[in-house]
Amino acid sequence: MAIADRADAVPTKGAVSRDIFTTRLGVIAATLGSAVGLGNIWKFPYLTGANGGAAFIIIYLLCTLVVGLPVMITEHMIGRAAREDAIATLKKLAPGKSWWLIGASGILAAFLIMAFYTEVAAWVFAYIVKAVQGAVLSTDPAVTEAAFAELITSPVQSLVWQWVVLAFIASIIALGVSKGIERMTKRLMPALFTILVIVCIRSITLPGSWQGLEFLLKPDFSKVTGATVLTAMGLAFFKLSVGMGTMITYGSYFLEDQDLPATATRVMLSDLAVSFLCGLAIFPAVFAFGFQPESGPSLLFITIPAVFSSMPFGQIFMILFFILAAIAATGAMLSLFEVPVAYLEGTLNWSRKKATVAVLVGLALVGSTAALSNSLLAHVVFPGVGTFFDLWDYLTSNILLPLGGLFLSLFAGRVLKWDNIKTWLTNKSTLQNEGAARAFYFVVRFVTPVLIFIILLSGLNVF
Ligand code: PFF
Repeated sequence: MAIADRADAVPTKGAVSRDIFTTRLGVIAATLGSAVGLGNIWKFPYLTGANGGAAFIIIYLLCTLVVGLPVMITEHMIGRAAREDAIATLKKLAPGKSWWLIGASGILAAFLIMAFYTEVAAWVFAYIVKAVQGAVLSTDPAVTEAAFAELITSPVQSLVWQWVVLAFIASIIALGVSKGIERMTKRLMPALFTILVIVCIRSITLPGSWQGLEFLLKPDFSKVTGATVLTAMGLAFFKLSVGMGTMITYGSYFLEDQDLPATATRVMLSDLAVSFLCGLAIFPAVFAFGFQPESGPSLLFITIPAVFSSMPFGQIFMILFFILAAIAATGAMLSLFEVPVAYLEGTLNWSRKKATVAVLVGLALVGSTAALSNSLLAHVVFPGVGTFFDLWDYLTSNILLPLGGLFLSLFAGRVLKWDNIKTWLTNKSTLQNEGAARAFYFVVRFVTPVLIFIILLSGLNVF
């Protein structure tokens, strides 16, 4: 009881003046904008391609449902209850305890994800220009590969495009939560869906596209190992932007009357739909022109341009495709950038502008390690992981996010009391969703932490 009373009764120092989302649609647009990102367009297709197609998708779906969704609801719930940044939320709900470390690890994770994510976004932005110029218009993968190599091995191009991306995101963040993030994502999400559907229709109407459909729909379990399952779970966390501070921070901007389980479920389903549509936009076309689906991260930048170059009006579809990817990346980066900014603003009382500039500078510095991973820092290789770029990706997706998810689910299932959870999820019994709240509490108590723990250990080869 004490926890609920505290959170409900004490207005946070920022509660009165806090800039929050203004409409339900805005909440959905921003949250979905965070979930939908390069994960759908870049990670999901190449991981599916490399891990046995439909078999991987089935495991990924299960991870999303029993691990990703409960953690997302947890984050929204505690975020809205406390209306603070990621660290202050846990300090407020569990005073004097160490749970705030989850928030701290979340802020670190957001930083490290941004370090490599902004570089992939940098390539995407650069590719819009290249597609318009016709610079990557070739049906020969050797040519598109050379164009990609030229971009990523150039320290100047890698850094400058990353700064362009960072400056763009920072300029939206500086405008604030409602005028910046909400307004932007409300416009971008419909554009994203429209472009995605157009590209999908093009892909599945190509002759020979059925092989790609079969690949997406027919499971090959022979490629599934413990590491595959860890990868699927890492993707589930990464996709839903959970296991770190993002959804706690966004939850703190949610409306009081928002139905939290319903919102998270809608976001999860829409995000899955986007991933699947991305698969439909990519694999049928890849197979139709005889390319290989297993090409890994380079699928987006080497195979895709060659695939689009092979089809009639390919240049237009290529431009549309990279605009789509840039839009997706923008919503996700806004949520990542917001996590440390909210902390500096909330806990340290900095002005939003000052906080934004500080995070911008920090990210330009840390991000440069990822930007230079294929050039000046290519010789720095971490055993079993790869370059700095791979290190930040591995550390966040495979370690920090699952650990964050584990502790968040333990916090929700073991520390918080059912009465509080019920109050928060049913909006003080104004909603008829107690069944959903009970199901959530059961899963987060008995299923989510156990699964995360087992998968984490087996993926790390502990047994
Ligand atoms: N969900 C985003 C994607 O799939 O691309 C990535 C992401 C955004 C991960 C925000 C984590 C996060 F906090």
